[in-house]
Amino acid sequence: MNPSMEAIRQSILVGQPLIQILSYEEKRVEGFLLRMAEQVHKAPALAHWDINHGLVKENHSVPESRDPVIAIDAVINDPEPGFTVFRDLGPEMRRSGRVVRKLRDAYKILKGKRKIIFLLSSDEYFPQDLKKEIDIFPFPLPGIDELGALFERFLESMRRSGRQIQLNEAERRDFVIAAQGLTLDEAYKAYMKAFHNQPLITAGLVKGIHEEKKQLIMKENVLEYFTQRFTLDDLGGLDNLKDWLQKRRRAFTDAAREFGLEKPRGFLCMGVSGCGKSLSAKVTASLWKLPLFRLDMNLVYSGMAGSPELVFSRALQTMDSVAPAVLWIDEIESGISDKQGDSSSSRILGYFLTWMQEHTSEIFVAATANRIDLLPAELLRRGRFDQIFFIDLPTRREREEIFSIHLKAKGNDVSHFNVPQLAQITKGWSGSEIEQVIISAMYEAFNENRPLSEDDLLVIFGNSVPLATTMEEQIKKIRSWAHNRAVRASKDVEY
Ligand SMILES: Nc1ncnc2c1ncn2[C@@H]1O[C@H](COP(=O)(O)OP(=O)(O)OP(=O)(O)O)[C@@H](O)[C@H]1O
Ligand SMILES: [Mg+2]
Repeated sequence: MNPSMEAIRQSILVGQPLIQILSYEEKRVEGFLLRMAEQVHKAPALAHWDINHGLVKENHSVPESRDPVIAIDAVINDPEPGFTVFRDLGPEMRRSGRVVRKLRDAYKILKGKRKIIFLLSSDEYFPQDLKKEIDIFPFPLPGIDELGALFERFLESMRRSGRQIQLNEAERRDFVIAAQGLTLDEAYKAYMKAFHNQPLITAGLVKGIHEEKKQLIMKENVLEYFTQRFTLDDLGGLDNLKDWLQKRRRAFTDAAREFGLEKPRGFLCMGVSGCGKSLSAKVTASLWKLPLFRLDMNLVYSGMAGSPELVFSRALQTMDSVAPAVLWIDEIESGISDKQGDSSSSRILGYFLTWMQEHTSEIFVAATANRIDLLPAELLRRGRFDQIFFIDLPTRREREEIFSIHLKAKGNDVSHFNVPQLAQITKGWSGSEIEQVIISAMYEAFNENRPLSEDDLLVIFGNSVPLATTMEEQIKKIRSWAHNRAVRASKDVEY
């Protein structure tokens, strides 16, 4: 069983009386609950509540029960054990403290009685007062088996309507895999669209499913597909990190599994601003020839796409479905941390930690962090990330490489510059600051209609102060934190 479903099952089996399930797929969730009811009560039956029909049990409406307090009372007083599903109770909880109070009462009375109230919604409202009483689970998207069964039923209906099907076993599987990451409804619609007006169903139509999925991922908004490509040559210095990445070039191949290696889960790059943390994430994807997706935690929390927990869990499930890929989480401390008193963020952290431990898909997480003091200890524990790298201000030799990279990238002839000298005088400058100075100096030269000269650079460097000078204390702190906990991304130590 899928780990999230297993977690719900455990919660049911220990007699937890209030369980909230987050999903867009009411029918699928209720199908699962019916199977659970069969196991627990030997009777596959559910009672239902919604705002229009009130509480309905075995086709009987309970009088007055559109009022959720009356409905919850009826569940409490029902002599029979059983499962009751409340759909969309969120707005009622928001409107009235009575409902929340009643649920807390129900929790005390129903504990261990095999009477369970399920709150089912796609966009959850979560009252703080219920924090201790309620278990919350995102419901997983359909797996290969469910999608496979759907696709077979779909093909059968196509065949009956006179279409010709020319698909072998492997090609059928491609259609099923292509729909991973979609809900059953979405998968059904994607097949409908792809096969519309096609008398002959062949392997080529799978493109339509990929197209549909791309659309749906874009709609989701919080995942951004990156097309920009970088190579190792765009990244100056950081030789330890580069070695590590290069040794894992074939980490996501069958050959690595056969050799007995587990697939890597991810790295965390922490360190000084502007020294190549984000660039390292981008380089990883290009080097390993994997697609790169950036998860925007600000959008997750914006509430634009739904409740943060649901959006976050769905994004990870979407990632599982597009594997193998690199998932880039920039400035992870701002999104995945245990902010005191914020239940959304602590649940997101919990979900992320479990996913990091348990996901079986080939997703490599490239995370970056600036404020390590905000990172929860659980995230740094062994077994979450394969390696934690510390990216410090560039060393002298690294600054040479950074100068060469950016002078060349912007069309200058490196042989006209004394790069070792430039590196010498820029002690304490970050890669990003060096790049910015080159750009400013090029504007000077451009305005005077001449090529960039070394003097242009020297003037600007002479007149400005790098951030490291003003932030000396902070940088000292970062260094001492990293000393025991992280591996230096650079090989050399001479600043
Ligand atoms: N080691 C480097 N080699 C080449 N370019 C670099 C290096 N470090 C920084 N740069 C340049 O600076 C830009 C910014 O770097 P990057 O975004 O990777 O910094 P960061 O460590 O993520 O900083 P922040 O903490 O501010 O997000 C890069 O896009 C690149 O152009
Ligand atoms: Mg960055």
